[in-house]
Amino acid sequence: MITLVTGSNGQLGKTIQSIVKKNTKFIFTDINSLDITKKKEIELFIKKYNIKCIVNCAAYTNVDKAEIEKEKADELNCNAVKNLAEISEIYKLRLIHISTDYVYNGINKSEISEHEYVNPQNYYGVSKLNGEKHIENSISESIVIRTSWLYSSFGKNFVKTILEKARSENLLKIVGDQYGCPTNAHDLANAIIQIIKSKDRINKESKIYNFSNLGYTTWFNFGKIILDYVSDNYNLEEIKTNEISQLSKRPKFAVTSKAKIISVFNLEIPHWKDSLKKFLKKI
Ligand SMILES: NC(=O)c1ccc[n+]([C@@H]2O[C@H](COP(=O)([O-])OP(=O)(O)OC[C@H]3O[C@@H](n4cnc5c(N)ncnc54)[C@H](OP(=O)(O)O)[C@@H]3O)[C@@H](O)[C@H]2O)c1
Repeated sequence: MITLVTGSNGQLGKTIQSIVKKNTKFIFTDINSLDITKKKEIELFIKKYNIKCIVNCAAYTNVDKAEIEKEKADELNCNAVKNLAEISEIYKLRLIHISTDYVYNGINKSEISEHEYVNPQNYYGVSKLNGEKHIENSISESIVIRTSWLYSSFGKNFVKTILEKARSENLLKIVGDQYGCPTNAHDLANAIIQIIKSKDRINKESKIYNFSNLGYTTWFNFGKIILDYVSDNYNLEEIKTNEISQLSKRPKFAVTSKAKIISVFNLEIPHWKDSLKKFLKKI
């Protein structure tokens, strides 16, 4: 079974690539080789390479800019996902689509399960939620994985930013009143690979699944643990969300339950602290 990974110059796509290496059962594309907004081109590609599964890592991911570039966010996070869902129906493909915890409003201080109320607090979340609906309504063998606070050695992410700032700034200020679940892209990539390999239909028990590392924290504590690992001499200050200016609102308590994905796909998910330490040791 040949799997196409779209958006593979991004963090998650590159991480999957780093795991499967030169396995010929995977084909990696990005906007230059396959633009997921171009339906005809995707169809030709699917036929040419006899693709049987798509992992969609392509997305509009700039959360703040999405408030201004709403059309661009819609085109990629919603309309292009419609293309992929329709093509998956026609060519009977498996489709694994990646979404976000930002579809939840995160106003309750309790773990969020997949069936719970969705109410995005920003336009990025709106566009991702609208994209998810095309998968949910599709008769194809497709699922949505909602992930959060993704980091890897590729691209831009919180862990890399903290490490860079620790080298160049005397005082780091990090918000301590937003809770969420860090996700090592390596763990998500491994879960995706395990799901691709599963022999049953992948949308066994409805289509939406949460995935992140286990446990939860605040951005401040996440930053502190990174800094504790690399240095014993840094200045860190905890601040509140209303002390920083951001174009978009973020959920306050986006802590998701992973019980469903663990039981349906028989996954073992590491705790975020263990996975972070492994990551920091490696880099
Ligand atoms: N990063 C996080 O913290 C986070 C949190 C929750 C959920 N997610 C979701 O996880 C998924 C992967 O995120 P990520 O961090 O790996 O994202 P990323 O690093 O921004 O990668 C997205 C990739 O998609 C490419 N792309 C843009 N337009 C495209 C098009 N028309 N056709 C094909 N490819 C296109 C981008 O290329 P260019 O760079 O050239 O534009 C980029 O390489 C996304 O669905 C995201 O919404 C991420």
